[in-house]
Amino acid sequence: MGADLEKILVTEDQISARLAEVAAEIDADYAGRDLLLVGVLKGAVMVMADLARALHHPCSMDWMAVSSYGAGTTSSGVVRILKDLETDIKDRNVLIVEDVIDSGLTLSWLVGNLRSRGPASVEICTMVRKPLALDVDLRVRYVGFDLPNEFIVGYGLDYAEKYRNLPFIGTLAQHVYQR
Ligand code: IMP
Ligand code: MG
Repeated sequence: MGADLEKILVTEDQISARLAEVAAEIDADYAGRDLLLVGVLKGAVMVMADLARALHHPCSMDWMAVSSYGAGTTSSGVVRILKDLETDIKDRNVLIVEDVIDSGLTLSWLVGNLRSRGPASVEICTMVRKPLALDVDLRVRYVGFDLPNEFIVGYGLDYAEKYRNLPFIGTLAQHVYQR
């Protein structure tokens, strides 16, 4: 995959160091409370697996799959549930785990959807936040990295379903988009 990459923005070591910090915050904030991590498939698989293992707090995990993007790199603005939770979240403390917040459209919709199910709380943890996300009314409790407005891949993030398994976060060379 080397020839497809332009640059590395966040290394594997930077990711694990930052996740340890975020996990310590979550441990402190949820002390004595039940915690349900809700991962958003498929992008959040890596951050969910590493974050959950960095937590000392006991937690449950569930998954949702929603679609807001096609195979390209721009948001369609239309959110659809492809897979719903298996857990009844009534009175639970839900922490949504996301790979990236770009326009924030997906997350705004998801938070509204989950709130309507009567949870005790809903918070958001994202590995990456992009600048557009600051314009929407979305309170993001935990952010791994604030990155510039570029299309990124790796650590769960894909372009046309590829590059998710890169252990770091980077950008793709122009020629990849042209083929
Ligand atoms: P939003 O609705 O614009 O915030 O985008 C949310 C979803 O779009 C994310 O969960 C990703 O699946 C996808 N996405 C947004 N930006 C990127 C990117 O830079 N690389 C890969 N996927 C992205
Ligand atoms: Mg996602």
